[in-house]
Amino acid sequence: MDHRITVCTSCRDKGTKSRLGYGLIEKLRQGIAEAGDRIPELFEISGVACMAGCDRPCTVAFHGPKKATYLFGDIDPETDIADLVAFARQYAYLHDGWCSSVDRPGKLRKSTLARVPAVIVDSETEKAHSS
Ligand code: FES
Repeated sequence: MDHRITVCTSCRDKGTKSRLGYGLIEKLRQGIAEAGDRIPELFEISGVACMAGCDRPCTVAFHGPKKATYLFGDIDPETDIADLVAFARQYAYLHDGWCSSVDRPGKLRKSTLARVPAVIVDSETEKAHSS
């Protein structure tokens, strides 16, 4: 498992004010477990207290080795699990994790709060720092 999905466990539903993250984690684990195609072996799912997207609950992040990191907001545990699982499948096979909004499934086209590229090590800069 070298890919990770992180779910905020502190986000509160705007209407009910209840915390939705733990339920989201449960449903996402179920969805990933049923995804097939090696996806359950690749992804670990965990919770974190806050990812600074508090105005756009729930927030969910995707990370992978040498891959872009994504932070999505407005994720509804009742309606958006299929989109997250579809993105996991897509993300697993993108060598650098990079994709455009139009290529992301469903709601994830419009709910991206951040896309951070993987660290790119410039060999000239690296040499300058090591000498
Ligand atoms: S409370 Fe969920 S991102 Fe801050």
